[in-house]
Amino acid sequence: MTNRKDDHIQLALLQQTQSNDFDRLKFVPVSIPEVDFSEIDMSINIFEQKFPLPFFINAMTGGSEKAKVINQRLAQLALAFNLPMATGSMSIALKDPSSMETFSIIRDVNPHGFLIANLGAGHGLENVLKVVEKLKANAFQIHLNAVQEITMPEGDRHFKGWLPLIQSIQQGIKVPLIVKEVGFGMSQDTIQLLKSIGVQYVDVAGRGGTNFAQIENTRQTQPMDVFNQWGFSTVESLLSAQKVKDVTMISSGGIRSPLDVIKSLALGAKAVGLSGYFLKLVTEHDHQTSVIKLQQFIDECRAIMVALGASSIQELTSKKIIYDVELINFIQQL
Ligand code: FNR
Repeated sequence: MTNRKDDHIQLALLQQTQSNDFDRLKFVPVSIPEVDFSEIDMSINIFEQKFPLPFFINAMTGGSEKAKVINQRLAQLALAFNLPMATGSMSIALKDPSSMETFSIIRDVNPHGFLIANLGAGHGLENVLKVVEKLKANAFQIHLNAVQEITMPEGDRHFKGWLPLIQSIQQGIKVPLIVKEVGFGMSQDTIQLLKSIGVQYVDVAGRGGTNFAQIENTRQTQPMDVFNQWGFSTVESLLSAQKVKDVTMISSGGIRSPLDVIKSLALGAKAVGLSGYFLKLVTEHDHQTSVIKLQQFIDECRAIMVALGASSIQELTSKKIIYDVELINFIQQL
């Protein structure tokens, strides 16, 4: 298990350079922006709180020594920039309590930060309350990883009963519940189904960045390549989500740059999660350099908003977007 977690980190790092569907859309340029840099407000309101920046560190790791160091570095960045941060799946800590410290290091580094605990679908309310309590988590993510499990020969083969379990978590939990994918995106029907059981926060975690089918297939002698291109991209998922009202959408999956963050927000996401990007940042650089690079990332988000003439995140949603033919085709078929 520990080796698998470390393999995931190694293999995910190799995937962070590709083009994806965010390249299929562009903003209509605004030559008279009528806004000053000093006016740009990138704050968002989500989980009944205000955050200064519209993005966060999404779920990744825990459960090994290497993962502990990564969590520590990620938490230091979260603290420096007041970013929410999700843990990796805490399933391993329920089985082996000695591995809890590879997760609780995040709370130790950032005692007052907004921390999101994470478990896979199939866990019940009791386990959820346990991990939330252990970390004093401010929110909880349940991840839907059927395709990842199917791709692994040793993976789970029982997928019945997820929906009632998620519903019971939604009803019993005291902190916000986020239901997320792990890189295969979500359709309008899935989001609608989640809404029907009371789920308020959905993270589409679409295709275009870290790809768990490819990661698992790389580790197998008999790969299930059919899943390498499976699912909806993050852009396709966000377009699908626009059809469902009153669900707070989070964009993640293949967010490589400030422009991808801004495009996500323009497509209606209320917050943006990055995993692979942060993994690369903290594994390739020391804390000081990571801080400089992340500050550049934030400055570039602000610069794009100026170029678009948007002084707030809300204003981004009215900016005109041009889609390429493939996305137009997708939108027409929705
Ligand atoms: C992940 N992801 C993930 N998601 C989750 O809900 N629980 C988990 O334990 C993990 N584990 C994990 C490990 C590693 C090394 C990576 C890179 C990612 C999935 C992650 O949250 C996200 O949905 C996908 O990685 C897509 O986003 P990026 O990486 O393209 O920004």
